This record gives sequence, structure tokens and C-alpha cells, in this order.
Amino acid sequence: MSARNPKGFNTKAVHVGSPTGDAGSITSPIAQTSTFRFPNVEAMADVGLGRRAGDFYTRYGTTNHHVVEEKVAALEGAEAGLLFGSGMAAISTALFPFVRPGDEIVSMPDLYGGTLALFHTVLAPLQITTRFVDGSRADAVAAAIGPKTKLIYLESPTNPLLRLADVEAICKVARSRKIITVLDSTFASPLNQSGPALGVDITVHSATKYLGGHHDVTAGVALGSRERMAALLPYRKFLGGVHEPIASWLLERSVKTLGLRVRQQNETTLALARALEGHPKVQKVFYPGLESHPQHALARRQMPRGFGGVLSLQIEGGVAGASRVANRLQLAAIAPSLGGVQTTVSLPIYTSHAGLSPEERRQAGIDDGLLRVAVGIEDAEDLIADFEQALAG
Ligand SMILES: Cc1ncc(COP(=O)(O)O)c(C=O)c1O
Repeated sequence: MSARNPKGFNTKAVHVGSPTGDAGSITSPIAQTSTFRFPNVEAMADVGLGRRAGDFYTRYGTTNHHVVEEKVAALEGAEAGLLFGSGMAAISTALFPFVRPGDEIVSMPDLYGGTLALFHTVLAPLQITTRFVDGSRADAVAAAIGPKTKLIYLESPTNPLLRLADVEAICKVARSRKIITVLDSTFASPLNQSGPALGVDITVHSATKYLGGHHDVTAGVALGSRERMAALLPYRKFLGGVHEPIASWLLERSVKTLGLRVRQQNETTLALARALEGHPKVQKVFYPGLESHPQHALARRQMPRGFGGVLSLQIEGGVAGASRVANRLQLAAIAPSLGGVQTTVSLPIYTSHAGLSPEERRQAGIDDGLLRVAVGIEDAEDLIADFEQALAG
């Protein structure tokens, strides 16, 4: 290992991309600017025409973006990355280069609601249709592939039931059929799951969640080979989903502690899941780290470092029961996001699955009494005590 080419996750998180060794600021300077100026026209032409590398215009990407891109790519085990203004900007921009009117996408029904809306509201009117099949079964995905299939879109683990797509098996099928694969790995974070190691072509994260980790930044990343990122770059430039430099700087700071935070979140979430499994008012705990999870063996292979910071609880008494527990919690905030330092809870019936009919929710396995818990970095004993007192009411 050389100091410039570190192997450990946390060492990479601190050092890759950020200034190291040389005299000067130990943190990256922020260029909070919309444009860059040049000493003369010739210098501007050199950068503008690509004869020399350099910052030019913020929407095209700047050093503050590149630092985060390099760091997160190293953590995911990808060659390169691109930073975006939100997770949805990363997801939509990652699809556009690879699908054209008349093409098909194969995906799974239990995707993040915004991604489902993208397929239905933006892509379907462009005659880009999506077939939804069970992502836990590579054979079901293989059977859904037709002559027009250009892309397979996966998400793992899923929200809110923490189901897993069989990513490696599906990517093998896709590769043999020359179909590109995109994985939303937000719930896992780069600590727990590596898209490239599972054979994924493009891995996306809502960096608003674990990468940002403090409930204060909206961002997204796409990661993959240099060639794939080069294909995405003009789409980022012209769709315009660029990240604000000052927020990129905040993200760079946050990513340095990603390993510490997520390792703690893995541990605390497993402890909370174990403490609440078997509680008389909790009918079911959904967490891939529990032996009772139907895909626990797959989870151990696919997420070798841990199972993430989200679990869901099916609370006795339906929506009234789950609401009572949520309202009685003192540490956990009622809020729709995940991945931050403070524990947050939400009811999928009022958030991710509010647009579904009761029958559609039943078919999706979403009980009215489901409470999604996104565990922060509070101490496990305090969180367990908070849930126990809330359930006792
Ligand atoms: C799994 C997943 N993917 C993508 C997104 C979208 O990310 P953003 O809100 O940063 O656009 C979310 C947001 O909740 C998410 O949970």
C-alpha cells in the first residue's frame, strides 16, 4: 500500500481526491462560483476547446465536484463517478444515454416511488416502456428480456420491505445478452455493497442519504467505468442536473466519515431489530440482517460488511397502532428521509406508498401498520429504550 493509493475504506474516504501531503489547506478550497475567469482569450480557448484540462463553467463540472467523484468512486470500487444535484438527477441521467423510443427496460415493482414515477411519467410518453418482474429471481428477469430490452434497472435493498434483488445473478444474465445494468444502491451505501463487484455497469446513490449523512445536503452520484461516465457527461451537461459547489464541499466532508457512520448504523440497526423481534406489539420485523429474513443468505453474500441502517416494523393495530408508536417516540424524528445521523421514522402508507389503493398496497405486502425506521448514530441502548417506551403506550 502506498500513501497515495490506500487500500482501507476509511483511509480512502479521508484521502482520495482531497488535498494530502502538500503544504496548504488541509481541506479542499471551495470555488463557490458559476464561472471561471482567464488571463487572456488564448487561455480561455485552451480550456474551452479541451486542449488543456481546467475549470471553465460550473454546470460543466468543477474541482469541487471531481474531488467527491473520485472519493466515492474509490469507495464503491468503480473507475469513475459523476456527481449530480439529486439522486433523481443521477438516476434519470444514467438512463437517457442508453434508451431510445421503442426500447424496453426490465425492472422490479418495489422501486423508490420517484423512480417509478420517472418510468411512468417521463419515459412512457417517450415510448420507452418498462416491464416489472420479481427482482429477487434472476430467472424471472431473464424471462422478461425481449428483443427490445436495452437496460435492466434494479434497486437493492428495497424500500420499505428490505427485499433484495439477486444482483450478481441478474448481471450475469444481462452481460450474456449485452444489456446494460443500473443499480440503485442507496439503501446499502458503498460500505455495505459494491455495484462493480457484483457486475453492475452503473451504480447510483441518492447521496442525500448515507453519503451526505447529516440531513443537510441533496445530491446524487453515478459510478462505473470511465467509458460509461463519459457517455453520461453530456447528458449531465445538457439536462443540467449539476451540484452546487458549496454543497459538494459539504458532501466531501461528510463522505470522510461514511465508514464510521454506516458501520455504527449497521450495528445499531441489527441490535434494534433483534430487540424488537418477538415484541408482543410488533407483528414482524423486516431486516436483511435477521436470520428470519427470507433472503438472509443472499444478504450475507451481497452485503458482506453489513445490512444497512433501515428496518421496518409491522405494528399491531394498523395505521392507528403505528401512528401511536411514531408519535410517542422521543429520539426518532417523524420525517420521510433516511441515512442521516438522527433516527427518523415514517409510515409508508402516508409517504412512499400513499398513491396506491389499499388493494395495491396489500399486493405489494405493505401493511397499514408498517413503520419504517431509518436508524441514526444514537446509542443502541437509548434507541431500544425509546422504542420500548413508545410501544408500551
Ligand atoms: C432508494 C432511493 N433512490 C433514490 C432516491 C431519490 O433521491 P433524491 O431525493 O436525492 O433525489 C431516494 C429518495 O428517497 C431513495 O430512497
